[in-house]
Amino acid sequence: MPSTGSPITRMREPLGHPTSTIPEAPRERWRKAFVAVRAETERRAARLSPEDQVVQSMPDASPAKWHRAHTTWFFEQFLVTPNLPGYKAFDPQFAYLFNSYYVAAGPRHARPMRGLVTRPGVAAVGDYRAHVDAAVTKLIAEADDETLARIVPIVEIGLNHEQQHQELMLTDILHAFAHNPTAPAYDADWHPPGAAGENGFVDLTEGIHTIGHDDGSFCFDNEGPAHRELVGPVRIARALVSNGEWLAFMRDGGYANAALWLSDGWNMVQAEGWTAPGYWAEIDGTWHSLTLAGRQPVDAAAPVCHISYYEADAFARWAGKHLPSEAEWEVAARSGGLADAFGIVWQWTRSAYAPYPGYRATEGALGEYNGKFMVNQMVLRGSSLATPDGHSRVTYRNFFYPAARWQFTGLRLADYPA
Ligand SMILES: [Fe+2]
Repeated sequence: MPSTGSPITRMREPLGHPTSTIPEAPRERWRKAFVAVRAETERRAARLSPEDQVVQSMPDASPAKWHRAHTTWFFEQFLVTPNLPGYKAFDPQFAYLFNSYYVAAGPRHARPMRGLVTRPGVAAVGDYRAHVDAAVTKLIAEADDETLARIVPIVEIGLNHEQQHQELMLTDILHAFAHNPTAPAYDADWHPPGAAGENGFVDLTEGIHTIGHDDGSFCFDNEGPAHRELVGPVRIARALVSNGEWLAFMRDGGYANAALWLSDGWNMVQAEGWTAPGYWAEIDGTWHSLTLAGRQPVDAAAPVCHISYYEADAFARWAGKHLPSEAEWEVAARSGGLADAFGIVWQWTRSAYAPYPGYRATEGALGEYNGKFMVNQMVLRGSSLATPDGHSRVTYRNFFYPAARWQFTGLRLADYPA
């Protein structure tokens, strides 16, 4: 669900008064938020063996151990080292190992080689996390009011950053498990979230709407500035596209009909041999999918998952419809008409990932967080079954390359009024 009422966003209240005495309660709430998010990472990692945590199944996916260390480095690099007097790095070599893509923060290990780093081991990464956890909680507890007001936004982006990696831990291990012939279960008791499956469309008449984040709570810089866009007339499907509908597309030769596909998409179909969504396999005449609970028969009523932008686009063309733009999606979601907007699958939009009018990246190294990726990717809206509680919101802009399908990605359709 949107995070307008999340514990994290509620804790921003002291920020409006940076020069006043900050009461004890907000300081304690920030500490608790930090401890809770850090614990969720470890809770997700606890189901993974040391061997699970080392594997890197492709350059785009990272080992779980790396996610645990990189999120820790983020706090060490941007929060603790510059702000906690006398802080001693756990290991000076870790900055090289666990910097992801921040050029301004120094040189780093090559991304495709992360799976070759067997040391530090899982236990040492746990020690690294504990070392930085202690430093962050000390900083939050002991910083003077002025320093606290300055560092709270860094704590907040660090927590949101770690929540993003919590989702990636699951998408990345599922990709690794997909290469294991025994189809391991991350959690044998896991069940997919139920979809409301409402029928019909949200009708949007032509109008000018405000798009983007404007309520003062936390957002990533790519969600603003809020601005006005002309939207509609258009109809946005209330339901996500289901596996049953996708099977109909497959039976109709959707993956074999070049006329349905973008040129780049058709090239991917040919090169990768795509005949079904990611992780699908036909066993004894029945389609199965690898899920977090292991290999399961495909549920025709459930939303389709693990599809690329190219597949979503081809499906929409086959259905005689199109994908919503991100502005159309946001207006429909704000109207309350999209019951399955959050917590099931990210939904591809037809919008290229580009800066909003007036966008300026944050200054300094953290300005590399979003802005430098604003080309050649497509925007996804909503959130997925792997998104941590309190992390999603109606203005959230996720983005991936159009061929990517190891994320929990699906679609909803849009249509023009008759
Ligand atoms: Fe990161």
